[in-house]
Amino acid sequence: MSSPRILVFAGSIRSGSHNAKLAALAAKEFALGGAGVSLISLEDYPLPIYDGDDETRSGVPANARHLKRMMMEHQGVFIASPEYNASVTPLLKNTIDWLSRARERGEPPLAAFRDRAFAIGAASDQPHGGLRSLMALRQILELGCGALVLPEQVTVFDASGAFDETGNLRDERAAAQLKRVTQQLADAAREMARWMPETV
Ligand SMILES: Cc1cc2nc3c(=O)[nH]c(=O)nc-3n(C[C@H](O)[C@H](O)[C@H](O)COP(=O)(O)O)c2cc1C
Repeated sequence: MSSPRILVFAGSIRSGSHNAKLAALAAKEFALGGAGVSLISLEDYPLPIYDGDDETRSGVPANARHLKRMMMEHQGVFIASPEYNASVTPLLKNTIDWLSRARERGEPPLAAFRDRAFAIGAASDQPHGGLRSLMALRQILELGCGALVLPEQVTVFDASGAFDETGNLRDERAAAQLKRVTQQLADAAREMARWMPETV
């Protein structure tokens, strides 16, 4: 059976980002489990703040169209989402907003969010580990974009000291949670690949 393909990225492009570390570790777990992994940074897909007038004038920017096509080449997407004021970062929200507008001719709306599975995680220095960011992200993806988001998720608290020098999680609870999330997303993506063999 073909390996599932998983796209992984973080909602932060800050140097030293805890969520970039979480994304990198998730990518490592997916690879260990035999999945094909694409770990990307949103730094490589800069987008203007969404403005409907811009879209009317110039259409959806090339980076959003490129990112959407990349999402559609994967059956699973893992997003590591920082928490800003009890929600997601403007970078992540803006990226999702543009992705939700990218549409090829004859394609149904929100195609990048359908027919694939999503899993989410967060790292924060706060004791709740970015949980409120995940609540907001789940709402955006599920209610806004019609995506399937797995119930299992990972939260990493006290993020400044959470990763050791090799990038692994020191806390057994968080490490076990990440293993469960990545395993479940890989399984779901494998199922998706069976339904849509032409995308593999
Ligand atoms: C504008 C702003 C708002 C923030 N609000 C929250 C918050 O509500 N809850 C929280 O846990 N951390 C909050 N933080 C702290 C971030 O979660 C922290 O900076 C985290 O390291 C960002 O993720 P990153 O390391 O992946 O860049 C906030 C940070 C900023 C800059």
